[in-house]
Formats: sequence, C-alpha cells, structure tokens
Amino acid sequence: MSEENLAPVTEELTEEEKGIFDLYPELARVERRQENGWREIKSFVLRGQKLKDFQIQALRDHYHDYAVVYDENKTLDFASIFGNQNPVVIEIGFGMGESTLKIAKANPNINYLGIEVFLYGFSKLLANAAKENLSNLRLMRFDAVQVLQDMVSDNSVDGFHVFFPDPWPKKRHHKKRLIQKPFAELLTSKLRKGGYIYCVTDWEDYANQMLAVLGSVEGLVNPYGGFAPERPWRPETGFERKGLEKDYKINEVWVEKA
Ligand SMILES: C[S@@+](CC[C@H](N)C(=O)[O-])C[C@H]1O[C@@H](n2cnc3c(N)ncnc32)[C@H](O)[C@@H]1O
Repeated sequence: MSEENLAPVTEELTEEEKGIFDLYPELARVERRQENGWREIKSFVLRGQKLKDFQIQALRDHYHDYAVVYDENKTLDFASIFGNQNPVVIEIGFGMGESTLKIAKANPNINYLGIEVFLYGFSKLLANAAKENLSNLRLMRFDAVQVLQDMVSDNSVDGFHVFFPDPWPKKRHHKKRLIQKPFAELLTSKLRKGGYIYCVTDWEDYANQMLAVLGSVEGLVNPYGGFAPERPWRPETGFERKGLEKDYKINEVWVEKA
C-alpha cells in the first residue's frame, strides 16, 4: 500500500460514508496482522479521498453483486462466484480500475477478480462494473497477499495481472515492494500449469527486480528471456499515464508456469 493511501485524511467521515461502514462493517478491515490476529484499521485511514455520491450509491446498490468478502476460513469457489467454469485472472492493486474494466469488458469468457485496498478506487470500479452490467468481474477490498494465502486454492488461477505496483523508490523502502521471491512463489503456487504472471512498471530498477525475482522461481519460465513485448490488449492505466507524462520507460515482464 502506498504511503499516500495510508495517510490519514483530516476530515471526519461524512454521514453518508458512516452509513456505508455501518452497512458493511468488513470495509473497515483491510489487512490482517498474523501476530495479533485481526488488526482493525480505522475506516477513515484507508478511505484515501472522500467518496463521491455515485460511489456511495454504488456501494449501497451493488456491493452484494460485485464484492467478495475476505474470510480466512473460506476457500474461494470461482465456479460458484462467477456461475461458470471459465478461466480466472486475478488483478492485484487495480487502483481506479480503468484498465480492469476495459479488459473485463473485452473478454467476457474470462472471469476477473480485482483486489485493491484503496476504497476510493474499489467503489469507483464497482460503480462502473454495475453501469456496464458486467458479470465476469468481482472485487475484493483487502490485502491481496492475505487473500491469496488464505482463500485461493493452489493450481486454480489462470493468470495474474500486477500493473504498476507501488514502486517504493527509496532504498530503505525496497523491502515493501510487492514483487519479492516469497510473493512470486505464492503466485506460482496458485497458478495452473500454463498460467501466467504479467507485471508492468515504469520504475526501472523495480523492472529489473521483477525480471530477476520472477526468473529465479522454480517452475516459472520466461518465454522472452528478458522484458516482454507490449501486450496490445492491455489498456493504459491511470498510474501509467502519470509516468508517461514524465517520459518514464514502461517495462513488461511476462512469465508462465511450466
Ligand atoms: C501505484 S498504484 C497502481 C494502480 C493501478 N494498477 C494503475 O496502474 O493505475 C498501486 C495500487 O496497488 C494497491 N495495493 C498495494 N498493495 C496492495 C495489496 N497488498 N493488496 C491490494 N492492493 C494493493 C494500492 O492501494 C494502489 O492502488
């Protein structure tokens, strides 16, 4: 999670926002600390920005259609969640979900599960998914690492999308980067044979780290032997646009489970 998202907002929750947390108390929890059991995070800390009326309305009207709730004692049953046996792709950290929506719309025969901790983005994608009446997209508002560890069966996922994960540019923060060996091994264990991990970043040394880490996991192969060519079907993301404005180079890493 980026520092920006974790920064407390100074204003209090509005009455409308409080109503949402009363309706769905689980929205106040976004991560679990193994040492102490549940770590309750105050709702206003992880809201990020004040929710707009359309986001509150979408949460009221469509939460149950699109949200999957974290429960460490349950295993996700994709066939019953999506109502079919189609392949499942999980996106980690979809941000505002612009590209998630476009990809899901363009591929109705693939099921997408988007995981994001940022409530502003979660509720925005929820609103857009409902507007488009998408049936192949579901959303989780929780720490993706916990979701994968606790709720996803091994060999059950066809692909992972990790687009522009927080770059944590300062050296002392590199340990907070998502793409590290244990996480890469976790993703690999959840992939079906032939499944893929697709990571993109505009931060050069993180790109090299992705290449090295994903290249070092047993059972993964890199068909390109280095950075992958751009996937024409991947729409530009919000975070990507900001990097491109600064002339940052975009690097893509694509690996597959042998
Ligand atoms: C730099 S943003 C990129 C967002 C989007 N993919 C894009 O390209 O515009 C990274 C996102 O990952 C989310 N994130 C970071 N760690 C996460 C985790 N462990 N579980 C779920 N989401 C996470 C953050 O909240 C943030 O929205």
